[in-house]
Amino acid sequence: MSHIAASAEERVTVPLVQRWKDEGRRLVMTTAYDAATARIADPVVDMILVGDSVGNVCLGFDNTLPVSMAMMNHHLEAVTRTRPRALIVADMPYLSFHLGAEDTLRNAGGFMQRGASAVKLEGGAKRLDMVRALVDCEIPVMGHLGLTPQSVNVMGGFKVQGRAEDEALRLLDDACALEAAGCFALVLEGIPTELAARATEVLRIPTIGIGAGPHCSGQVLVFHDVLGLLQGHKAKFVRSYVDGFGLLQDGLSRFAGDVRSGAFPAPEQSYRLPEALHAAVAGWTPRS
Ligand code: KIV
Repeated sequence: MSHIAASAEERVTVPLVQRWKDEGRRLVMTTAYDAATARIADPVVDMILVGDSVGNVCLGFDNTLPVSMAMMNHHLEAVTRTRPRALIVADMPYLSFHLGAEDTLRNAGGFMQRGASAVKLEGGAKRLDMVRALVDCEIPVMGHLGLTPQSVNVMGGFKVQGRAEDEALRLLDDACALEAAGCFALVLEGIPTELAARATEVLRIPTIGIGAGPHCSGQVLVFHDVLGLLQGHKAKFVRSYVDGFGLLQDGLSRFAGDVRSGAFPAPEQSYRLPEALHAAVAGWTPRS
């Protein structure tokens, strides 16, 4: 059964995302980092996140900390050039929203001028001033709480968050504060199911879960995880729907086999010279 988005013609907007939450429609988000992945994702999902996960997924870094605004802008532009109907959310990388409101606005405003419809940033109470500044400048903000990858050094690794009472209650406080500051949606990553369920119950804005159980208003997974394109450690919350790595490598090795055996290219992949020119080309000799 195909799950092409119900309203493939309708451009997804921030108010529509809110309306879908109110109507109880589960929201679907995935990442895309270039035109090819955006074109695959667009007819299927509601929101495309140009995530700073591009750092570890595509650029070979161990985590997202080295990802810069220049890198994000490069990948965002590749996605927005495809003019997707899905809502494009651009992820604010590490240090792009930590140095003051002016810097944050310039970075986020640059995303909007490149065609994003919203930005996402990690963190709770400490980031409220930046969220307010962005919302004041007409920039829709998606919050992100729980296992926030840019805090990997503070967390001491990629560990489930919110299992202790103080952490769980702080997360609920932060979620409410982000909503009050004007966030239109909230990613909840790597937290217990019950905590995400409670946040989803108390918030009016939609929650988008990743490793946060089934009770969120929607779910997000990294494109390459959904399609099984990555090798190595896979987080517990990932479900891969195809063995993309195996499928693609199989296709590539059949290409390599055909090249080595001479079976590629065949006449269908080759161009022909008009018959009338065959003799001239065959009779040609080097000039000196
Ligand atoms: O960068 C990213 O891909 C993300 C999602 C995992 C939520 O932040």
